Amino acid sequence: MLKKSVSSAIFLCFLYQIGTGMFTASYPTNLTPSSGTNFIFGVVVVNDGSWYNNTTGEFTAPLSGNYLFTGALCPQRSTSFYFGITLNGVEQTRAEYFESDGHVCHSYTSVLQLNANDKFAIKSVHPYNELFEDHSRWNIFSGVKR
Ligand SMILES: *[C@@H]1O[C@H](CO)[C@@H](O)[C@H](O)[C@H]1NC(C)=O
Ligand SMILES: *[C@@H]1O[C@H](CO)[C@@H](O)[C@H](O)[C@H]1NC(C)=O
Repeated sequence: MLKKSVSSAIFLCFLYQIGTGMFTASYPTNLTPSSGTNFIFGVVVVNDGSWYNNTTGEFTAPLSGNYLFTGALCPQRSTSFYFGITLNGVEQTRAEYFESDGHVCHSYTSVLQLNANDKFAIKSVHPYNELFEDHSRWNIFSGVKR
């Protein structure tokens, strides 16, 4: 029992130092990312341990485990909009959002098993992708470890 609480305390100190990896970032720095480049969310709302890098748009897993990534993307009206979810640069899934009637935000979710130091990002995979952002439509990227 004592042994268990000592090891839990050591683990908690360790987590305190490296952070949990939980992050939320908003406001893309470039609303028209060219094909093959990451969406970069510049404004960091939460970044426990600073594992989300707001100049590359990549999240690096601090620990191996199960992670949930979610958020919203708001494409420009009537613009083809394709993106991929990448793990270490390799697409895990791809989607297209297209709305002809307005600027509609769509949520996305991805659950992945990551090893420590794996990198997760959202990548533009279309040359004319364009996001829309205003006071009521926010593009968001978040992640948390289970
Ligand atoms: C990245 O986040 C830091 C810390 O929150 C902030 O000072 C900086 O301006 C951000 N960079 C960009 C490109 O938005
Ligand atoms: C983000 O990544 C870039 C490129 O790898 C690196 O130069 C920079 O130091 C990183 N920023 C932080 C806050 O770790």
